[in-house]
Amino acid sequence: MSHFLSRHASGLEPYVPGEQPLDRQYIKLNTNECPYPPAPGIARLLAGHTGREFALYPDPEAKDLRGAIARRYGLAIEEVFVGNGSDEVLAFLCMAFFDRGDPINFPDPSYGFYGVYANLFGLRARLIPLAEDFSLRVEDYLQRDGHILLANPNAPTGLALSRSKIERILKGNPHRLVVVDEAYVDFAGEDVTSLPLLRDYDNLMIVGTFSKSRSLAGLRLGYAFSRPEHIAALERIKYSFHPYNVNRLTQQAGVIAVEDDAYLSHVLEKITATRDRTALRLQELGCRVLPSSANFLFVAHPSLTGRELYQKLREKGMLVRCFEHPRTLEFVRVSIGTDEEMKAFLHVVEETL
Ligand SMILES: Cc1ncc(COP(=O)(O)O)c(C=O)c1O
Repeated sequence: MSHFLSRHASGLEPYVPGEQPLDRQYIKLNTNECPYPPAPGIARLLAGHTGREFALYPDPEAKDLRGAIARRYGLAIEEVFVGNGSDEVLAFLCMAFFDRGDPINFPDPSYGFYGVYANLFGLRARLIPLAEDFSLRVEDYLQRDGHILLANPNAPTGLALSRSKIERILKGNPHRLVVVDEAYVDFAGEDVTSLPLLRDYDNLMIVGTFSKSRSLAGLRLGYAFSRPEHIAALERIKYSFHPYNVNRLTQQAGVIAVEDDAYLSHVLEKITATRDRTALRLQELGCRVLPSSANFLFVAHPSLTGRELYQKLREKGMLVRCFEHPRTLEFVRVSIGTDEEMKAFLHVVEETL
């Protein structure tokens, strides 16, 4: 460790990303990426690209991309912010809406980055335990003393909260910002997204990503939807930190991805069908599988800890994710791959159990 490290930096607990191994070929079911390529127009874009324009900075306002996203979701361009992955959007919103020492409320367990950012930005993390069955109790989220951040569907559980429950949380905290991280919402059916609530609630911010359903994890593109004044607050941070945060290629590919709804539906159909089949088979094999509204399954088997199952699968060339959190030690999280990958996965699980 550098002896120049600041006290603040030495107190951080950085996020540990899922493995991206290069040593051998694995079936990669550990980071909730999409197993299918992005919209076909993106391959055409790349085939016709000279790269000449990469000599120039990208449009800092990302107007074409924000315009395309706004059209797709029925919003005004001023209601759309884009970032270098939704992780960056989440960081910008922590900087825009919290002062050091402010409380931030989020469920436990949930996406690991929330705690990491709380630490990085000096916030007081108020972890609100999920119920025994990992459901979220709305009563725990009413009249909180600080802003609220929730993933819907939640990670790593995959459980979704209904829109009416989100609405109760919005109503219960009229003077707090309620951020709903919808990274996995496309896999949850039409009724889960909080998008229709944006018109009625000025305390709602939705965060989303192109990394999951739109297969662009490697290009890094995330977004936020909210009232123009909240979006302007994010822009303030962006222009104080990284004005060119979304690169040229990502802006171009993002437009193609967001305009190809037919392809999105096709991918969603395949992944949700594979997910539901895989869940049934795992249950037949004696596993506990939480009902998933995402592109992954949260799975436990009574005879093994999550880490043991992870290790056994890894030896056989399959990567899944296990956790250190005391409430999720029994579980592994399995991203949904192609049908062939899931067949191979189930085969190895059968052998292992
Ligand atoms: C709940 C949740 N939010 C946000 C992200 C970040 O996605 P990205 O930075 O790729 O947009 C993830 C990634 O796994 C996630 O699970």
